[in-house]
Amino acid sequence: MLVSELETPAVVVDLDVMERNLTRMAEYCQRQGIKLRPHTKSHKIPELAKRQMESGATGITVAKIGEAEVMLDSGITDILIAYPLVGRGKATRLADLAERADITVSLDSLEAARAISEQVTARNVRVGILAELDVGFGRCGIANEKELLALAQKISVLPGLEFRGLMFFPGQFVVGPTERAALLGEVNDLLGRTQEAFEREGLQLATVSGGSTPTAYDAHQFRGVNEVRPGMYIFNDRNMEGIGVAGVEDCALSVIVTVVSNSVAGRAIVDGGSKTFSSDRYLAGDGRGFGIVKEDPEAELENLSEEHGHLNIRHSTHRYRVGERLTVIPNHACSTVNMHDEIYGVRGERVEIAWSVAARGMVR
Ligand SMILES: Cc1ncc(COP(=O)(O)O)c(C=O)c1O
Repeated sequence: MLVSELETPAVVVDLDVMERNLTRMAEYCQRQGIKLRPHTKSHKIPELAKRQMESGATGITVAKIGEAEVMLDSGITDILIAYPLVGRGKATRLADLAERADITVSLDSLEAARAISEQVTARNVRVGILAELDVGFGRCGIANEKELLALAQKISVLPGLEFRGLMFFPGQFVVGPTERAALLGEVNDLLGRTQEAFEREGLQLATVSGGSTPTAYDAHQFRGVNEVRPGMYIFNDRNMEGIGVAGVEDCALSVIVTVVSNSVAGRAIVDGGSKTFSSDRYLAGDGRGFGIVKEDPEAELENLSEEHGHLNIRHSTHRYRVGERLTVIPNHACSTVNMHDEIYGVRGERVEIAWSVAARGMVR
């Protein structure tokens, strides 16, 4: 099948670009002696997780138990659930997983740890635990090294749990290179204090898991980090381009849409809206718009209704025709993939493969 024969809207992945992204990250991690544990929430496709394993990853990361279940069913057996699992129901499902694979969970509360401990002990299995450090993103994690140490000490004596180290997510690094460099010093101070505090008390940190796509190639500059969890790097997107982490030529994923109306002056409407792209904002520059139109960078994908993408073409010299197809790099590749049952791997004009997005919508 040819790309031009795909029904639109269709999410396509340029396989040459994706393969280059995978190789580059794997080689960087190997060179630096840092373990690569990609976050598979960016694609939610077991075949791609396996490719990441084949190209050097030591395990994978997921956000939800449902995602872990899908990945485990496909044969991946070293999984970090980088999300605080709270409550008995989740702990029970986690114990099911731990019977079949090496599972690690990150958390920041004793409540979560106790519930997991009870369930895995009843099943006579073990789960690895990473204590989450908040390095300034202010989402999850404990920012004070003494409090984190106190939590880790309590976790390390709970039955069925194996304390394995620290996890942090530097989500505030979705900014330009100068700001990222400025943030690094603060994060390193905290990482240094935390690692010293743990060392003083004799609590071993086998793993210090950091990283995200914006920080992945700087991982060697983060104190003590020996594992990274980039997700987006496999595809890249407009946000990564906007903060200078990737070029347009590194963006493997795009959405092919069709112009369905040009009847309003200064506007063209395409057949993809928020149910195709998600509504995720642009996090760089002026914060406007929902994607880069590759054929016409002067056009602005200004607004999204559910099924309509509103292109502002007032500043464009391109003559828009009903029926013409456009290629759009979305703001956020991960949430775009999550809107689709199937996405396509393409090489040049050929559709080489259709992947089912098997872990899409696995929010539990
Ligand atoms: C805990 C955690 N680790 C890793 C990642 C991957 O980061 P990125 O998508 O920037 O590659 C995310 C993304 O949300 C995350 O929440």
